[in-house]
Amino acid sequence: MSATHAGVVVLISGRGSNLQAIINAVRTGELPTDIKAVISNNPNAPGLTYARTAGIPTHIVDHRDFSAREQFDRALIKKIDAYQPRLVLLAGFMRLLSADFIDHYAMRLLNIHPSLLPDFPGLNTHARALQSGAKYHGATVHFVTHEMDSGPVIAQARVAVESGDTVATLAARVLKEEHRIYPRAIRWFVEGRLSIYKGQVLLDGKQHPEQGLNRNSHDP
Ligand code: GRF
Repeated sequence: MSATHAGVVVLISGRGSNLQAIINAVRTGELPTDIKAVISNNPNAPGLTYARTAGIPTHIVDHRDFSAREQFDRALIKKIDAYQPRLVLLAGFMRLLSADFIDHYAMRLLNIHPSLLPDFPGLNTHARALQSGAKYHGATVHFVTHEMDSGPVIAQARVAVESGDTVATLAARVLKEEHRIYPRAIRWFVEGRLSIYKGQVLLDGKQHPEQGLNRNSHDP
């Protein structure tokens, strides 16, 4: 990566509400960066409309056009690198990425996941949180490493699971928190305030309170 790298590229597959939160944060100045492009593997992703409305270039790299994951990932890298972004953001991007892709963007690839990782990696997190009887659920922004939904945690938000919660009510409360913590975590990155020490993300050289919130057995 050269010193000319700047801005972010966002990868989506679907609804795009986190993308919209990022667009809003850039617009209000809360997030001091440019969104260079939005790329979707799904040509029908509703979130593409948010990008187009905001005048952000969009691209489709349809995984179904490729016979192997590595080919798809190489095509994705080519599209992303044309913009020379400082940071690549997964925002509801529903494809597993190859090790080569992850290595190519090492420590400049972020993801948001709807659980308090390491609890509930993978899909259907809200249903699994309800089934498990967890007292708390939430969302996590993390650096992407080789293991799925893993990697050093930048920020987490916790919501209490309420009696009477359904998947829909719990998901809605978590999503609201996602829209709050993702732009903020991105801002910390673009302001150069994040570092890693012994596998842990530090903010301004220190641990901060919005990490390590997955202690379901404890009260806050
Ligand atoms: C979010 O819950 C995010 O945490 C997960 O996928 C969902 C995407 O939602 N990775 P949206 O497309 O941003 O609305």
